[in-house]
Amino acid sequence: MGVQSPARPPSGNDAAVGDVGEQELIRRYRTARRDRRLAVLEGFHALKHALRFGAEVVEAVASEPRRLDELARELAPDLAGSLAERVAAVGPEVLAELVPQAPRTGVVAIARRPEVDPGAALADPRPASIVLLEDPRTMANMGACVRVAAAADAAAVLTTGPNDPWHPDALRGAAGLHFALPVAAIESLPESDRPLVAIDPGGEDLRPAELPLQAILAFGTERHGLSDALLARADARLGIPMRAGVSSLNLATAVAAVLSTMLARALKLPEFYWAPISTIVILLSPSDPFTLAWQRFAGTALGATVGALIATFFPTNWVVYGAGILLCGILSAILRLGGAYRFAAITLSIILLIAHTAPPGIVAYHRFVEVSLGVAVALVVTRVWRLPSPK
Ligand SMILES: C[S@@+](CC[C@H](N)C(=O)[O-])C[C@H]1O[C@@H](n2cnc3c(N)ncnc32)[C@H](O)[C@@H]1O
Repeated sequence: MGVQSPARPPSGNDAAVGDVGEQELIRRYRTARRDRRLAVLEGFHALKHALRFGAEVVEAVASEPRRLDELARELAPDLAGSLAERVAAVGPEVLAELVPQAPRTGVVAIARRPEVDPGAALADPRPASIVLLEDPRTMANMGACVRVAAAADAAAVLTTGPNDPWHPDALRGAAGLHFALPVAAIESLPESDRPLVAIDPGGEDLRPAELPLQAILAFGTERHGLSDALLARADARLGIPMRAGVSSLNLATAVAAVLSTMLARALKLPEFYWAPISTIVILLSPSDPFTLAWQRFAGTALGATVGALIATFFPTNWVVYGAGILLCGILSAILRLGGAYRFAAITLSIILLIAHTAPPGIVAYHRFVEVSLGVAVALVVTRVWRLPSPK
């Protein structure tokens, strides 16, 4: 047990933080959790993302520093070879004292939070939306929203209410992606030129094509939804359609569904609605999301390939369509794709039976990208839900 070498700043700065006893190390990490200038990073992915997106990491410790480079070779080749020398070794018992729940990857770090200017984020000229979370209550939800927003290249995540969006538990939920975009708590939403869109179960059905790409998308608090004040101020109030009897989606799921729609639109995919459909199907299914995501991904790839080839070389009629469905079944069996067959059949049907103006190869490619995008967003959210809650 014990700190075997001094913690070093992993910024290339060679000055050691200094020889510290275990108690001092534990005190620093515990104090850092409450310090609004610092961010505590728990786990390999959080450290990886923080470094990748330019965080100034003050110190880092690991129970097995050598294993970090193995992980980096496997999961983050851009950081391979540079991690082990940047972290100090500590015994696993000490690591367990530094944070409420020691990460399985055995590494924790402290970084400086970047200065975030919400006014500058609101003025970002890119066609990218801002996610406004009104008084979010759950750290895991905040983290999941930041992670999805980073993946969708949103312009910022702003939060109101007492909870700190940089809380270590939110950082853990976001796998350190707070460093990938501006994330800040604000007192209230300042005036801006961006249209304010309230995303609310009671709103009119969301028509993605009508959503301005530079909108501020406001999401409400977990139990009570958006405040009357924000609803009154909003330029539009839009809801994600749901089956009768379902009152609302989880906050992070709602953010994921809307942002995957926006991302597909920004990529100019003509039938972008397949992205949020895929996200919602995976997130709301009782089956294992990873199995379902794989089946949807593999099945869509197979159906798109078979559909594009058939539509290119054969006239579309019921015999050809039936043969295509049969072929998808045979190929799914040969490739041992199991349940992916139904997604192959759905994709094939969309390509062959719905009239499109683009060539079949392009339609198939778009369907594959749209569905993959939705699957990716669903997996991002699912990863967060699978994290064990802190002690
Ligand atoms: C758990 S919901 C809040 C439910 C709350 N009882 C209500 O009726 O608004 C948290 C937030 O997620 C978003 N949300 C959830 N389901 C939605 C849906 N079907 N359409 C639009 N927004 C939704 C909204 O922003 C909502 O304020």
